[in-house]
Amino acid sequence: MCGIIGYTGYRNAVPVLIQGLEQLEYRGYDSAGIVCYDHRKGGFFLIKEKGKLAVLKEKIGNFSVDAHVGIGHTRWATHGEPSRANAHPHIDASGRVALVHNGIIENYAALKAVLQKKKVRFVSQTDTEVGAQLIGRCYVKGKGKSLFEAAKAAIPQMRGYFAFVLLSKDNPDTLVAYKHSNPLVIGLGQGENFVASDVTALLPYTRQVIYLEDDDLAVITRKDVRIFSLKSQTWVKREPATVHWNVSQAQKQGFPHFMLKEMHEQPVVLRNILEKRISKKGDIFFDTMTGGFRSRLRQIDRVYMVSCGTAHHAGLVGSVAMEKYARIPCRTQVSSEFRYGDPILSAKDLVILITQSGETADTLAALREAKAKGAATLAIVNVVGSTIAREADAVLYTHAGPEIGVASTKAYIAQLATLLLLVFYTGKLRRKIHPREFKTLIRDFRRLPEHCAKVLQEGKRFEACAQKHFSRRHFLYIGRGYNYPTALEGALKLKEISYAHAHGYAAGEMKHGPIALIDHEQPVICIAPDSLTYEKMISNIQEIRARDGIVIAIGSRGHHDLEKMADEFFSIPRTQEVFSPILTIIPLQFLAYKVAVLNGRDVDQPRNLAKSVTVE
Ligand code: AGP
Repeated sequence: MCGIIGYTGYRNAVPVLIQGLEQLEYRGYDSAGIVCYDHRKGGFFLIKEKGKLAVLKEKIGNFSVDAHVGIGHTRWATHGEPSRANAHPHIDASGRVALVHNGIIENYAALKAVLQKKKVRFVSQTDTEVGAQLIGRCYVKGKGKSLFEAAKAAIPQMRGYFAFVLLSKDNPDTLVAYKHSNPLVIGLGQGENFVASDVTALLPYTRQVIYLEDDDLAVITRKDVRIFSLKSQTWVKREPATVHWNVSQAQKQGFPHFMLKEMHEQPVVLRNILEKRISKKGDIFFDTMTGGFRSRLRQIDRVYMVSCGTAHHAGLVGSVAMEKYARIPCRTQVSSEFRYGDPILSAKDLVILITQSGETADTLAALREAKAKGAATLAIVNVVGSTIAREADAVLYTHAGPEIGVASTKAYIAQLATLLLLVFYTGKLRRKIHPREFKTLIRDFRRLPEHCAKVLQEGKRFEACAQKHFSRRHFLYIGRGYNYPTALEGALKLKEISYAHAHGYAAGEMKHGPIALIDHEQPVICIAPDSLTYEKMISNIQEIRARDGIVIAIGSRGHHDLEKMADEFFSIPRTQEVFSPILTIIPLQFLAYKVAVLNGRDVDQPRNLAKSVTVE
């Protein structure tokens, strides 16, 4: 997620902005920049670079800047590659207005077209620059009298959810800040004031803050803060609050771990994907899918899903769906096997690479192997502009935002959602899904954010279950069909953060070995939502109970027969089987998290693991 910092006061602005950006680094970013008003020069001092803050600091080097007002930004790319041109701050064509921005201006393309007709020249691929140019034009039309009035005139033309901070050359001691859906908080000092995307950047200077509300437009000088509500069209008073968090707590927005914070972000991630990928009419669209690639989708006669770890489990779910709905034969392999397996490929094959980081060495090698053999390649990636995203023939971004915790949670949900949309899109393109069924799938997909939020509310019960079992060293996970991968993913979550041995198995395989493990000491997590094989799962559970095994069941709401059989029962809202892996994984994420915490593990950075495995 991007980070914003703004300052106006008696200090030199450059070190204040840099320190603020350093406090925001945890949010994940791929470029950074600052702009100040340099009194000696009588103009903007603008520095921005791709890469980490160290690159920016080196560039700033020994510049001596006499500046007491400025804005800074760390960018997590959503529109346009990570690059200096796309980094913030952006300056308007008149060179008088600077802007930093979080969120997305959804109608940026239409606004850009109008501005280009008026001969406005753009220097970046970003939606942010469109905001800067639009406000800049309003500012120039207003003869540079008021940045506040310019913002007020421009905002109603912008759609989406965003927060931005503005600085102008003509009123260099004033910042103008606007909040709509993305957070912005003002820090109150003595003879100085601050504005930032979260309190973390303010804590080195002040604990007195004002949380802006939606559609607040604030005018900030070193002496005072005035807030205008665009909703009520009046100046309003917002009561200051005192922040009691320390920096570490603030970065996790009060959650004890990034992993828990990211688990709770999952409904929002699903909602974002919905808004980006499904039109009001109920059509699926992929902004990065070219017409050429679409026609390749029509012609392929086999699909490979290739990835590692959690992403591999998403590929397994995608593979079942691809065969069921798009009727295309699909094979799933871990990248390390694919790359050395000398796969037989041709232009009629599509290799889908799934990866959160976009930098996993085995998956990158698999991509290059697939391309060398002439297959079409599609990357499903979270990190914009990552190596795999850039080298694949096509890319679909999962838009989960930065995932800091090593154990993948929200990125997994986002991979599943994106894969299912790709399957439905392909199935419709190849006329394998009846329009009525397609409509039902979209209807049920739209319910997922709310279903996901409902499962998250069971937090207390996950705690109680973990309390009973956290000292156990062996766990078995079983599932069938779409939820066999859930068994694998649940087991991976537990083992990678609690270090307990956990094994995921296809439930139908119980009799072929694992049932030998069952006794009164053995917990078996049984994933049994509504499905074609529900009755088979019930038989498996009866076999476990007959041998005194401990049954922890994940089932659909209303399945009281299952609830009665289980020692612990967690329910998910009823949905079609194809969507159930997006919900059944949530109790398993919580079980893993709670067991790890009770065992005193380093949840966000488990031993021996890295967030991105860029070596073989
Ligand atoms: C999952 O919780 C692990 N962090 C790990 O298995 C991860 O999924 C795997 O390394 C693949 O990473 P990628 O998605 O960035 O390629």
